[in-house]
Amino acid sequence: MSALETLILTPKPSGIARAAETLSAGGLIALPTETVYGLGADARNDHAVARIFQAKGRPHFNPLIVHVASAQVAQRYVEWSDTAQQLSDAFWPGALTLVLPLRADAGLSPLVTADLPTLAIRVPAHPIAQALLETFDGPVAAPSANPSGKISPTTAQHVIDGLSGRIEGILDGGPCPVGVESTIVGLSGVPMLLRPGGVATEDIEAVLGAPLALRDKADPLTAPGQMLSHYAPGARVRLNATEVAEDEVLLGFGPVPCTLNLSETEDLVEAAANLFHHLHALDAMDPAGIAVSPIPMKGLGVAINDRLARAAAPRDA
Ligand code: TXA
Ligand code: MG
Repeated sequence: MSALETLILTPKPSGIARAAETLSAGGLIALPTETVYGLGADARNDHAVARIFQAKGRPHFNPLIVHVASAQVAQRYVEWSDTAQQLSDAFWPGALTLVLPLRADAGLSPLVTADLPTLAIRVPAHPIAQALLETFDGPVAAPSANPSGKISPTTAQHVIDGLSGRIEGILDGGPCPVGVESTIVGLSGVPMLLRPGGVATEDIEAVLGAPLALRDKADPLTAPGQMLSHYAPGARVRLNATEVAEDEVLLGFGPVPCTLNLSETEDLVEAAANLFHHLHALDAMDPAGIAVSPIPMKGLGVAINDRLARAAAPRDA
C-alpha cells in the first residue's frame, strides 16, 4: 500500500472535528488518552478495524479495547452488572478497562473482540479523547498506537516515529499524564486482574471489598487470542484448498468460483474485514466441511492464516 500523508491535528475544535470526520469515513486517528496514545477507528466499521491490525503489523487478531464517552454509553455495548457500576462509579473516566459480556445487539465489528463473547471497554479521562468521543458520537476501538512488538507511545512523536504514513492523522495532545496502559479487570466471571496498569490493584480491591482473582497464565481461557480454537465452526476447516469436495463449501480468496469470497481482488484488508462474518455465514449453512483458498503469508495474511489455523485445529485441543 502506498504511504498515506499523516496529518498532525491540533486539539482545537477544528482539529477534533476533522478527526471525527476521518473516523466516520473509516480512517485511522491516533489520539491521546491519559494512559498512552491509542490508534482509533470506528468500532462498527469492519474495514476500518482491519486497518488497525494492518497499520500495527499485528501477526494475530488480538481483541481491542473500545473507548466510549460515558458509563451510560458503555451499557449499549456490554451486559452491565452491579460490580461494573461500582467500579465505573469509582474509576471512570480513567485508566481502568472492564471486560464484560458483549451485548448481542452491540453492532460492533467482530474483529474488535476477535470474535470473543466479551468486550473490553473503557471511558478515558483525557479531555482530548473525551472531546473526540463526544464529537464522533460513536464507539472507538483503539489499541496502543505502536507497531506490534514496540513499546506503547506516550507522546505524539512516538506515534509519528512508529506509524507515520500508515494512518490518516494524529491528534497531538502532548505527553500522556499516566504513561502506562490501563488496568484491565475481567468481570465476566469472578472479578479478575487481567493486566496491571494505571489504576492500582489495591484501590480496585478496596472498592470491591475483596481481592481480585489473578489470571492463571497456564489456563488458556483467561488469555484471549491465545486459545487454539476459541471459536471453531461446527464444520471441519481445510486450509490451502485448491479444489473443493462435494460436501464442502469454499471460502475463496481471489478470482475463484466459491461460496463466499474473502476478497475477489486479493485485498488482504478486505479479507480481514470479511473473515469472521463469512466464517459464521458458511457455518450457518451447516456443511460437512469448509475449504479455504490459499491466502498469502504477508501483511494481514499472517493474522488471517493464524485465525484460520485455529479454526482448523482439532476440537479437543
Ligand atoms: O491504556 C490502554 O488500555 C490503551 C489505551 C489506548 O486505551 N490501550 C491498550 O490497548 O493498551 P492494547 O490493544 O495495546 O491492549 C489491550 C489489551 C490486550 O492485551 C488484549 O488482549 C486485552 O486488552 N483485551 C481486549 N479485549 C479483551 C477481552 N475481551 N478479554 C480479555 N482481554 C481483552
Ligand atoms: Mg499494546
